[in-house]
Amino acid sequence: TSSILISPSILSADFARLGEEVRAIDEAGCDWVHIDVMDGHFVPNITIGPMVVKALRPHTQKPFDVHLMISPVDLYLDAFAQAGADIITVHPEAGPHIHRTVQHIKSLGVKAGVVLNPGTPAKMLDYLIDDIDLILIMSVNPGFGGQSFIENQLRKIEACRKMIDKSGRDIRLQVDGGIDLVTAPKAIVAGADVLVAGTATFRGGPSAYADNIRKLRGG
Ligand code: DX5
Ligand code: ZN
Repeated sequence: TSSILISPSILSADFARLGEEVRAIDEAGCDWVHIDVMDGHFVPNITIGPMVVKALRPHTQKPFDVHLMISPVDLYLDAFAQAGADIITVHPEAGPHIHRTVQHIKSLGVKAGVVLNPGTPAKMLDYLIDDIDLILIMSVNPGFGGQSFIENQLRKIEACRKMIDKSGRDIRLQVDGGIDLVTAPKAIVAGADVLVAGTATFRGGPSAYADNIRKLRGG
């Protein structure tokens, strides 16, 4: 099995010092940087847009894992690609044609991921699995950091792990929401190989980031 990647969600960082925070998690050993984009419409919170992604780009060379919680999403794919996204993940509910949206992302030279909300079944992926680079399982309802892990999403992680292995394709299986030292091992056992963690990465301030990331990875 492949090694576990940690993608800290900067939603839990100090927004007044975002550049420094991104450099700090880079130096602390994160693998990717998870950027939560929210529009106050698809989800009940507002965060950041392409301008901030672009402003952060010079602060690290690690992949930008951009989780779009905006609708309609298609209008903004080009802007996030140009701002420096390496991976863009989209919710099927955020536009009329998820298959077309995936092709659009790939045409920009960016890796494409599909995100399943807690109420969205794995079956949604049956005709997308041939084209995507990543599956993101939401283990909370999107919108806020610091929520509790929804245990029955472990079954969905297991189902997606089977789908990926059966496909024989190189697809990452990511989990997002309520990941901490108790839930991370459960998600890994179920088959996840990329963990998003906001609260659990940033707690304790910059001097704790390296330890927090190492422990999440299981090391
Ligand atoms: C929720 C976001 C998550 C969130 C995770 O809508 O997609 O990335 O920041 O935060 P924690 O790790 O605190 O649950
Ligand atoms: Zn996220």
